[in-house]
Amino acid sequence: MLTWDDYNQEENASVATAAPEPAVVAAATMAQKTVETPEPPAIEPASTEPSPEAMQAAEAVITNMDASVGIEEMEMGASRISVDEKAMINCRADLNQLVPFKYDWAWQKYLDGCANHWMPQEVNMTADVATWKSKEGLSEDERRIVERSLGYFSTADSLVANNLVLGIYRLITNPECRQYLLRQAFEEAIHTHAYQYCIESLGMDEGEVFNMYREVPSVAKKAAWSISHTHELSDPNFDTGSIEADQQLLRNLIGFYAVTEGIFFYCGFTQILSMGRRNKMTGVAEQFQYILRDESMHLNFGIDVINQIKLENPYLWTEQFKEEATQMILEGTALEIEYARDTMPRGVLGMNAAMMEEYLHFIANRRLTQLGLSEQFPGAQNPFPWMSEIMDLRKEKNFFETRVIEYQTGGALNWD
Ligand SMILES: [Fe+2]
Ligand SMILES: [Fe+2]
Repeated sequence: MLTWDDYNQEENASVATAAPEPAVVAAATMAQKTVETPEPPAIEPASTEPSPEAMQAAEAVITNMDASVGIEEMEMGASRISVDEKAMINCRADLNQLVPFKYDWAWQKYLDGCANHWMPQEVNMTADVATWKSKEGLSEDERRIVERSLGYFSTADSLVANNLVLGIYRLITNPECRQYLLRQAFEEAIHTHAYQYCIESLGMDEGEVFNMYREVPSVAKKAAWSISHTHELSDPNFDTGSIEADQQLLRNLIGFYAVTEGIFFYCGFTQILSMGRRNKMTGVAEQFQYILRDESMHLNFGIDVINQIKLENPYLWTEQFKEEATQMILEGTALEIEYARDTMPRGVLGMNAAMMEEYLHFIANRRLTQLGLSEQFPGAQNPFPWMSEIMDLRKEKNFFETRVIEYQTGGALNWD
């Protein structure tokens, strides 16, 4: 790794071998008057002024500009908007006016997301590197869990981010929700960064890890299921405004928020956090802890969006559609149980595939009731209550007792 001293040396070396700039020679001449050096040739300063013709052309454009044209092109009208005009989908009011707020919950989640800001480099990975490189550090089953988790998540968050910015962003026609979507998109970039940072720190085979979503069946099936729900929306010609298209948007939101972020993340998160609780791979576990906190907010935002769309467009939430949504949750649960069996062929870290199956039934019930659907696994219990505690954790009560930078200072800035 280059140090700052190396950088200075390299820079100095390159200066020493490169031809000196005339200005450098001139400065040296002035500083050392006793040294006879030839006068450098006079250099005409490059002209940076625009020509009078170019200035006149620019002024003519501004004088003749019709400011209403851009607004009309957006088909959003030019008037000040009222709260009543705002809507989650198919809104024709101006989407550039953030206020007045209609959905305070969306704005609050944006503020909460900013207050939870963190970066992967803040987490100390030294102990993890030693554990990973030591033969006695982890069992084979534990190593498989780390590899599979990084394999799934290193690409899963890119799938989520792409769906956000290429699919749903333009279809959610509300500025406070879009503000949160932009925050979420950045958080997904931080999550992908965190996985890449773990993979690089541990010296893992990057090609193998980043291709698991295509090559390892239990990982690939989950990724393929998510991707199958993004195709239609990422078509630039897709638009909402019909019952069929609006239901397609709902399918996508359920597929990504309730299933991908709300079910597919839970086996891997539970396994890695259980490892951290046993004081193994605490750096990776701490990264996952922060990601899980972000993800639980993404999930809750998505549930709120879906329920708000239902409220404003009740004709979309037909009996047939409810059955379809329930079916999607069941499919996601089955895929995650398959992943649990693949990653835990026997008991490991105080858990096994049967316990994870129970937990995923509990999680599936929760997702169904959050969407206003009936539970499908009556009586399912949570065998890992500590997971809920971790999700609610605030940064200052860091579970793994490592120091991180506290960002929650935005509201307390003092300008005196
Ligand atoms: Fe994420
Ligand atoms: Fe997310």
